[in-house]
Amino acid sequence: MHIDIITIFPEMFQGPFSHSIIKRAVDKGLVQIQLHNLRHYATSKHKNVDDYPFGGGAGMVLMIEPIDRCIHELKSRRTYDEVIYLTPDGQLLVQPIVNHLSTRHNFIMLCGHYKGIDERVREHLVTLELSIGDYVLSGGELAAAVLTDSIVRLIPGVLGDETSALSDSFQDHLLSPPVYTRPAEYKGLKVPEVLFSGHELKIHEWRHEQSLIRTRNRRPDLLSNE
Ligand code: 6GU
Repeated sequence: MHIDIITIFPEMFQGPFSHSIIKRAVDKGLVQIQLHNLRHYATSKHKNVDDYPFGGGAGMVLMIEPIDRCIHELKSRRTYDEVIYLTPDGQLLVQPIVNHLSTRHNFIMLCGHYKGIDERVREHLVTLELSIGDYVLSGGELAAAVLTDSIVRLIPGVLGDETSALSDSFQDHLLSPPVYTRPAEYKGLKVPEVLFSGHELKIHEWRHEQSLIRTRNRRPDLLSNE
């Protein structure tokens, strides 16, 4: 898989991509992630990438020209399954979308800022618009990092045997059951007895029951939306 991220803040990705699962996936060669500083594609003397909105109003708008130049260059190197724009008015990102994207190969992720980007970019260059939730972030960078993490962890070979993506919350419309580790008792707080029974079927049933209880209590919408 190859992910190209277009941003005016490439440094924001150094942390999230240098640790844990994403780092492992990159080190194993299972995904390549390239950051592209939009400013390098600016044509003006002062390397501007944004300008005032036509018609007036507060905030700046990312210009089409640097974005078009950047995407054009990237498209000369490979073909893309999607050009994704991260925006709070995009389609809500949910696990089935992540699952689908994890089966594809090449993506451009475009991070917006300020008041947004020139609508002509969305109409003519972007193929998919995603939001990561009903709240406002300062820009698309954190959303792109979230999207990248959610996709990359599903690439075959990225997760070790110890973690199965299939047992994740949401993969079966259920939240995960509670988990415990040593000590078996801490300050009088005990671990449920069934987990020491060695009875695989019983433990499986208990976990499923706990998942149902947890989902019913916390996210009943997941049960009714199937
Ligand atoms: Cl993708 N971008 C921004 N700026 N805010 C968001 C978002 C994206 N998703 C939720 N809030």
